[in-house]
Amino acid sequence: NWKMGDFAQLEIARIQQLVGDRSLVIGAVSGGVDSTVAAALLKAAIGSRFKAVLVDTGCMRLNECEQVKQTLGEHLGIDLTVVDAGELFMSRLAGVADPEKKRKIIGSTFIDLFEKEAIRIEKEAESTPNSGKVEWFLQGTLYPDVIESLSFRGPSATIKTHHNVGGLPERMMNGQGLRLIEPLRLLFKDEVRAIGRQLGIHESLVNRHPFPGPGIAIRILGDVTQERVDIARKADHIFITKIKEAGLYDQISQAFAGLDTNRSVGVFGDQRVWGYIIILRAVQTKDFMSADIFDFSTEFLKDVSRTICNQVEGVARVTYDLTSKPPGTIELE
Ligand code: XMP
Repeated sequence: NWKMGDFAQLEIARIQQLVGDRSLVIGAVSGGVDSTVAAALLKAAIGSRFKAVLVDTGCMRLNECEQVKQTLGEHLGIDLTVVDAGELFMSRLAGVADPEKKRKIIGSTFIDLFEKEAIRIEKEAESTPNSGKVEWFLQGTLYPDVIESLSFRGPSATIKTHHNVGGLPERMMNGQGLRLIEPLRLLFKDEVRAIGRQLGIHESLVNRHPFPGPGIAIRILGDVTQERVDIARKADHIFITKIKEAGLYDQISQAFAGLDTNRSVGVFGDQRVWGYIIILRAVQTKDFMSADIFDFSTEFLKDVSRTICNQVEGVARVTYDLTSKPPGTIELE
């Protein structure tokens, strides 16, 4: 008679056994509900031997890194290290338009940075009572990430490589280097939220729309530049703010603005512009395996479109994506 309530206790005990009483664990934290719940479990299991790290890819939402650092400190007592790597990600992604290549570059850059950070943490811990080796790497991987990344029917059946599953190097998959802890690997999002509530995690964090590790980079159709990320980020902020103001945030499972790097002609005042196309996406789903689009009123969408065109330079057109999943995936790439 298995209950969700038992999960956290069992998992905390399992982690304590697995890690033992000397090793350190480095954890990838993004501020989303998955990595927050995973971090809370680790913190409960091994206290300050758990080291939470957020890699700023330069592709995060507006003000996100500072907000996540503040929230984790205030609500969970976790001292988050933010690694500023925007320029590195931009340089490695330059000129790459293929979605799977983008995902693999982002995944391997994440791992490079975490391995470097693990060495720094070990050095820093040397002179403290917590000295030990960083042997484990925590990820908030969920069951749907696993299914969609690992093909059971051969490579051609892979839908997309979620950066925290298929993007990992061989040495991590075969037990060399950092070993993986994925406490949520068998759970769906609604189960993770239920555990988050049991652990006392604040409702605003538990109910947050998911945000993928590769961030805005996989919401840009085509190759990624800092200018394109900045435009998509501003448009996204306007869209989400309008959704919150209209009281719709909790009715929507995930919403964002992406950018098509093909440009379109428009007329602003009496000026011709040749600007990017913003793609708004909002879905309702229980398990993120299938999803319906959200039914906004036309008035709402017109208001968002007008505001983005007026306030975000470089945008000529705004569209709303009408594709459910399947056939469309939730992210654009
Ligand atoms: P898709 O696009 O596959 O998205 O329909 C399903 C859910 O997974 C999230 N997603 C990711 N999350 N790393 C993540 O951490 C990834 O590489 C990734 N790709 C998609 C997506 O935001 C949605 O919630």
